[in-house]
Amino acid sequence: MPYETIIVETRERVGLITLNRPKALNALNSELMGELTAALQAFDADDKVGCIVITGSEKAFAAGADIKEMQSKTYMDAYKGDFLTSWDRVTQTRKPILAAVAGYALGGGCELAMMCDIAIAATNARFGQPEITLGVMPGAGGTQRLTRFVGKAKAMDMVLTGRMMDAEEAERSGLVSRVVEPDALLDTALSMAGKIADFSLPIVMLAKESVNRAYETTLAEGTRFERRLFQSMFATDDQKEGMEAFVEKRTPNFTHK
Ligand code: HXC
Repeated sequence: MPYETIIVETRERVGLITLNRPKALNALNSELMGELTAALQAFDADDKVGCIVITGSEKAFAAGADIKEMQSKTYMDAYKGDFLTSWDRVTQTRKPILAAVAGYALGGGCELAMMCDIAIAATNARFGQPEITLGVMPGAGGTQRLTRFVGKAKAMDMVLTGRMMDAEEAERSGLVSRVVEPDALLDTALSMAGKIADFSLPIVMLAKESVNRAYETTLAEGTRFERRLFQSMFATDDQKEGMEAFVEKRTPNFTHK
């Protein structure tokens, strides 16, 4: 199926999705979100893909949900149409997703980056939740994920004033894991994703699920969940191969990718 608002490619075992509505700074309209979630589902089902990268342009990862599409919605449109619930499909993807952010990641764009498992930023990245300036508030996780990631002080500051964070502050605050020069962004993201995609896929998916569980449960339940998953890994041939390769001083060749 040809996509209109995203570009979908594979680079070795990495699925690459480029948001592509340049005239609207990649504003996330329903068409784009429908295509994005379809592409994520397709990569999730594709045995040749082990990790996914979502990126935008040098000017914008995404400048938010599409304001022109939203502006005339009524409450009944939003409620009966269950506006934004379908965005949850991004977080239901089982393979890891890496957001490579350059330029603006605002509103829904910042929320999309936070739905990914790892976010890296170019030095020109700008993160913000400017919804307050539009007479609304974040609606796709901005009041929840941002608060868990950067803490209440910065989340309140951003959500209530609408100000932007630069890449350096985003890294310092725990919103992104690395900051690189804009022209190194895609290569860095592809190399990180390629490395992940070469590990055992079921183990990678379990590790992702376990880290994400930390946001959903208590420490006691979370560590119990982690321990059960860890124990189950001894049933895999990839655990045998990984440890055998270490002892034999060679590179492991994992079966399940
Ligand atoms: C629709 C958008 C858009 C958006 C930019 N554009 N952001 N269209 N929805 N979110 C369009 C502009 O209308 C313009 O189209 C073109 O993209 C270029 O934008 P400019 O404003 O001319 O660019 P610039 O002056 O460089 O300013 C960049 C900017 C600004 C600072 C990012 O565009 C901006 O403030 N955008 C809105 C950011 C925002 O409020 N995002 C949150 C959205 S609400 P034309 O046709 O005029 O050339 C949201 C709700 C989340 O995300 C709820 C859950 C998802």
